[in-house]
Amino acid sequence: EKGTYPHYMLKEIDEQPAVLRKIIQAYQNEQGELTIDSAILDALKEADRLYIIAAGTSYHAGLIGKEYFEKIAGIPVEVHISSEFGYNMPLLSKKPLFIFITQSGETADSRQVLVKIKEKGYPTLTVTNVPGSTLSREADHTLLLHAGPEIAVASTKAYVAQVAVLMVTASVFAKSQGKELDFDVVKELGIVANAVQAIVDTKEELEEIAAEYLSTTRNAFFIGRNVDFYVSLEGALKLKEISYIQAEGFAGGELKHGTIALIEDGTPVIALATQKAVSLNVRGNVKEVVARGANPCIIAMEGHEEEGDRFVLPKVHEFLAPLVAVIPLQLISYYAALHRDCDVDKPRNLAKSVTVE
Ligand code: F6R
Repeated sequence: EKGTYPHYMLKEIDEQPAVLRKIIQAYQNEQGELTIDSAILDALKEADRLYIIAAGTSYHAGLIGKEYFEKIAGIPVEVHISSEFGYNMPLLSKKPLFIFITQSGETADSRQVLVKIKEKGYPTLTVTNVPGSTLSREADHTLLLHAGPEIAVASTKAYVAQVAVLMVTASVFAKSQGKELDFDVVKELGIVANAVQAIVDTKEELEEIAAEYLSTTRNAFFIGRNVDFYVSLEGALKLKEISYIQAEGFAGGELKHGTIALIEDGTPVIALATQKAVSLNVRGNVKEVVARGANPCIIAMEGHEEEGDRFVLPKVHEFLAPLVAVIPLQLISYYAALHRDCDVDKPRNLAKSVTVE
């Protein structure tokens, strides 16, 4: 039930701090340590490479999951779009583990890959929000997102839950391999939950940004580097699916290799700068587009913000920055869709779960 909320999407955006706290709780043991099912841990230990298979928003979460598994747990990861993987399978490693990320657990493109992979006898894990869903039943193992039902077509809280659960899984796996983490995941996820709360409490400011940048524009660009690039892809998808504004996400350095030709006077460019090591490079990319007339909206992280930044995110661990950086993008998309009189919860041409290939 959406209660007093005008839309499920807004309700689900607001639920995100609670979802993060729920995940911390659900994956903690009695000693307060994070833990996952031992059979899943064994499957991870057996594997020499992880293959993440997903579509849409879940694919974007998978890209961030790759960073976590590679940087924290030291295992190579490939992330694939399920509809492509089905007929264009890459050469596989000797001991692959397939991880399907799917909010609904019903996406036909992903299921088709699961069926093929099972025929080949490889181990499979589904990360889903829906216990008992098709992909959960058909895979060897399941990790649950604990996000509660997601009704709005545009995925918000499930994405945040996917990124958080992938972090939990990567960190538990790393520890089981004797790797020392230089940060406390439970503590840092708690900080993220508070940061997300602080952002959803600043809705007026984000509504203003949407009005200023997006109420009449034809197109919009999102840029970022490193994990901010992946969040840019998600920001662009969110905006286009509910507001019908043509939006694209780019790696900061890639824009100038062609797409910069599309920048005109007033074109909105939303730039994410949460990663200290590349923040100056992103700011350099912003200068390039501003020189061509773009209307820049820099979203930076506290600690390395600069004057003129349009929105400053509360400081969180850099690995977890995607969990906070995506929140203003969700809200900006929501308000842009409202201002343009779009049906926020049920955008045209889209269904909540895509059960055709
Ligand atoms: C975007 C969105 C879709 C889904 C995609 C995969 O907001 O909701 O892109 O992410 O259709 O769906 P699941 O995760 O259910 O497999």
